[in-house]
Amino acid sequence: MTARFTGKVVLITGGGSGIGRAAALAFAGEGATVVVAGRNAEPLAETVKLIEAEGGRADAVTADVSSSPDVARLVATTVERHGGLHIAFNNAGVLETGPLADMDEAAWDRLISVNLTGVFLSMKHQIAHMRDNGGGVIINTASNLGAHMRLPYLGAYAASKAAVSALSRAAARECIGQGIRVNAISPGPVDTAMSLRPGETEDARAERMKDAVPIGRVGTLAEAASAVIWLASPEAGFTVGHDLVIDGGASA
Ligand SMILES: NC(=O)c1ccc[n+]([C@@H]2O[C@H](COP(=O)([O-])OP(=O)(O)OC[C@H]3O[C@@H](n4cnc5c(N)ncnc54)[C@H](OP(=O)(O)O)[C@@H]3O)[C@@H](O)[C@H]2O)c1
Repeated sequence: MTARFTGKVVLITGGGSGIGRAAALAFAGEGATVVVAGRNAEPLAETVKLIEAEGGRADAVTADVSSSPDVARLVATTVERHGGLHIAFNNAGVLETGPLADMDEAAWDRLISVNLTGVFLSMKHQIAHMRDNGGGVIINTASNLGAHMRLPYLGAYAASKAAVSALSRAAARECIGQGIRVNAISPGPVDTAMSLRPGETEDARAERMKDAVPIGRVGTLAEAASAVIWLASPEAGFTVGHDLVIDGGASA
């Protein structure tokens, strides 16, 4: 086990499942104290349990990223309990699909409030802390659907994620002078519930991926998490405002 993140406090939204949980385990495995956040306490507690079972340090805070008071409390609690905030992985997200003509405004609002406003609010409160406390690293989860490719029935989701990509790159230019390095990841289909169509089995998804993705499969959680770890590491110190596509060639 290497320990590139010993002494670092890492905050991960959407840390109770999928890519967020995989990144939480990876950061903790390299010595970080990890705070996982999401709306539901139970999956967060499970992530903490998995990390502690490996001898790592973790904590959970319930918060809705679309609520500014929640995000302010999340950042303040992280700093109070763990003495700082050095790395933030703003990864919480939701998916809504369907023809634009049939999409109700509530679904649109949900997408924008979590996927885009959630990242804005997270960065707003994190940057305010980091700029006065020696800087930090921020990584936001966009998607290959957005700035890199578009598909029918996924236009609203793509719009929310393209905006995350743009916001991340603009924030990178704005914040690097304050010692805060901002980047994004843009995954393609990764092995989580989000890449399954409603009612689809994993076998059916595997068949679909043979045509949908040049590499012929979904990405693994380890492949997604390792990109986050690299962007957060000192080895990526000169990487600023990058939007790292991890999609098996889907948007190439
Ligand atoms: N899997 C893919 O194929 C894929 C591809 C491209 C991009 N992504 C992006 O990757 C990120 C992680 O997705 P995933 O695949 O790991 O799916 P996931 O397992 O569904 O993870 C999404 C996480 O976001 C949290 N979340 C949702 N709304 C929230 C809110 N309002 N406040 C706080 N937390 C909230 C969820 O926890 P609670 O429900 O408990 O709040 C959940 O832990 C998302 O941003 C997604 O858009 C995924």
